[in-house]
Amino acid sequence: MQNFSFQNTTKIIFGKETEKEVGKYTAQHGYKVLVHYGGGSIKKYGTYTKVINSLEKAGIDYVELGGVEPNPKLSLVQAGIELARKEKIDFILAVGGGSVIDSAKAISVGYFYDGDVWDFFEAEAKITEALPIGVVLTIPAAGSESSGSSVITKLDGMYKRSIGSNLIRPKFAILNPELTFTLPNYQTACGAVDIMAHIMERYFTNTEDVELTDRLAESALKTIIKNTPKVLANNEDYAARAEIMWTGTIAHNGLLGTGREEDWASHGIEHELSGIYDVAHGAGLAVIFPAWMNYVYQHDLERFAQFAHRVWDIEPDFKDLEQTAYQGIKKTKEFFSSIGMPVSLKELEIPEDRLEEMAQKATENGEIGSFVNLDTKAVLEIYQNAL
Ligand code: NZQ
Ligand code: ZN
Repeated sequence: MQNFSFQNTTKIIFGKETEKEVGKYTAQHGYKVLVHYGGGSIKKYGTYTKVINSLEKAGIDYVELGGVEPNPKLSLVQAGIELARKEKIDFILAVGGGSVIDSAKAISVGYFYDGDVWDFFEAEAKITEALPIGVVLTIPAAGSESSGSSVITKLDGMYKRSIGSNLIRPKFAILNPELTFTLPNYQTACGAVDIMAHIMERYFTNTEDVELTDRLAESALKTIIKNTPKVLANNEDYAARAEIMWTGTIAHNGLLGTGREEDWASHGIEHELSGIYDVAHGAGLAVIFPAWMNYVYQHDLERFAQFAHRVWDIEPDFKDLEQTAYQGIKKTKEFFSSIGMPVSLKELEIPEDRLEEMAQKATENGEIGSFVNLDTKAVLEIYQNAL
């Protein structure tokens, strides 16, 4: 196990009707709040009214900015920064999923910066200050509710890039599984894949002696595998929704990566897909992750065989670990398919003509991944494996 320091300061408020307490928690951090949300689901399903009522009850002054699109765009972030300055905002409340939260985080760092907020995403500026933010989560997926990162798309050049800093970790996140009853099955499944991907990016490591985090990761994966089909069959299964929602946060709050090297190549490879073709991040991962696994598994057959055995209950064949390892990858792909996810670029309706460009962009700052280092040629092969 490697040395590590771990501190996750996001307060989690979990359970039924907890969004009604948002005013109380917001009042601990700000007086003038920017309420940030997406394309309208929160208004359609009543979350907006509950949140606003709670803010008003707590005597909080607010302005609002809706319209965050999935794969959130830089232009709305820039508009949000202007609005926040004009209104002298001191707190941002994100009501929605990863896209809304990431947009709020980008506004929070841009607020204090004189230059273009995109500079942070190009690593040309360092984050030294950010407005505090809070979250009412409506979709378990990205884990942004307690992560220190934000992913934004710049349409000019189709760049999807991320920033990371403890300063943008939300102060609190309200997680009511009831708010996720209204998710379309496709979004639920995208979320399940993203959660699994966040666990697997950490699971496939070269670090030895990481038994606790291996086993935590395996149980988190098993929890998603067991509960996703349940919520797809019954959207209002509270118990199963609760398991998924809490796993989604645990998957990406840093705990499962403690003491071990993490990989993140599949995310980098996927971000080029959602950056250029605007596909849902989870759907892109369902295509890329198995293709990545097929490319790298020979590197550590034992680890892949352990994954097959402990996560997918495949009896290990000690005389043929490659076969066991391969079965685990096959099961992963079959599971993604069984929950309605695409598992090939063809199913995602992504043509072959820009694979080289995407491989170049994904590696423009050098090799990616750490389980196996991937150069441009390797990334291109993974895209080709995913066809
Ligand atoms: O916009 P509205 O109308 O709200 O609809 C959303 C959106 O269309 C809908 N939705 C959300 N909650 C709903 C609902 N529909 C019905 N009922 C509800 N309760 O779902 C759609 C997807 O929302 P989005 O926020 O885009 O989903 P997700 O949470 O998967 O976020 C994806 C973004 O997060 C980034 C991804 O790259 C992508 O841009 N990520 C952020 C990370 C981070 N900051 O730590 C890590 C992740 O790896 C990921 O890269
Ligand atoms: Zn992700």
